[in-house]
Amino acid sequence: MAFSILGTGSAVPSKVVTNSELSIFLETDDEWISSRTGISERRVLTSESLTDLAAKAAERALESANIAASELDFILCPTLRGDQLFPSLSSRVSGRIGASCPALDINAACSGFVFALDVARAYFAAGQARRMLIVCAEAMSRLTDWTDRSTTVLFGDAAGAVVLGPGEGPLALRLTTSCNEEWLVSDVPSGNSPFAPYSPGTFLRMNGREVFKFAVSAIDKDVRLLCEQAGTSPEDVDYYLLHQANLRIIEAARSRLALPPERFPTNIQHYGNTSSASIPLLLDEQVRAGNMQKGQLLFLSAFGAGLSTGSCLLRWEA
Ligand code: ACO
Repeated sequence: MAFSILGTGSAVPSKVVTNSELSIFLETDDEWISSRTGISERRVLTSESLTDLAAKAAERALESANIAASELDFILCPTLRGDQLFPSLSSRVSGRIGASCPALDINAACSGFVFALDVARAYFAAGQARRMLIVCAEAMSRLTDWTDRSTTVLFGDAAGAVVLGPGEGPLALRLTTSCNEEWLVSDVPSGNSPFAPYSPGTFLRMNGREVFKFAVSAIDKDVRLLCEQAGTSPEDVDYYLLHQANLRIIEAARSRLALPPERFPTNIQHYGNTSSASIPLLLDEQVRAGNMQKGQLLFLSAFGAGLSTGSCLLRWEA
């Protein structure tokens, strides 16, 4: 037995920060940000907690799946960091929505959603779950250095969720992790142990050019590999829901595949890079816009710190 997506949900903070607002305190401008990345604005947490956002996305997904929280067998929360180191974000979400099943956080950076789908696949295959909730929630505004124009302008905060039940998917799924401690890094503060040197921790640091090249070839490779594994071709895929990190990455991947832009929906314009929340946020938007039809083929692909990649080909069953 495998899974199908029964429902989707998402939530974003109410505070919108435009490119022009950033240029008030950073040496940047709307023209640079939108032409280099496609981003016009992003959402930023103010008075809400990340748990608030994650719980809202989860409740919306449960409602759209017509499932009660008490029916869930497992909750997975991909996140770079919740509101607290512990209890975990998934524990807190579980409490908010009134679930009583086990709950676990996963950190695979921006690839977290696809990693969670693979864990879910194993639970369904082992007969250990019939209803699972995945909630990806990211507070990128807490991880970036707001004095660093080269990273801060790229990210936003959001949560995206799916409820899974038994089904036929995925048709193919591939994860990779290759350790790279240079291109995408953030260090946690050390404790105050008298036996180890103190370090205050660091904000997110990135080698954008290297990540860019890595992402384009990873997406291209996965599309070809997974389509071949599933006995289909890239032309047969109805929608490519790619990690919304940079419009130029999506455009480069699309042009390598020589497929029309309509198959590559985007929302990076409004939300920036929301890490693991990016694909479920986009998926929820597509579902609510009525763009998903039963039987359509979807290709999900994400990449991020690790370095990690996760791609998944599935048929829309709802
Ligand atoms: N405004 C104005 N100028 C800027 C800004 C800014 N916000 N940021 C950088 N610049 C300047 C740089 O200082 C540099 O100036 P210089 O030539 O005088 O040194 C110039 O613009 C060019 O900088 P590049 O870094 O070469 O710009 P590039 O065209 O490569 O675009 C970008 C940078 C947008 C970061 C791109 O490389 C990219 O999107 N990379 C992929 C990022 C990504 O996908 N990250 C995923 C991370 S997800 C995760 O796991 C957390």
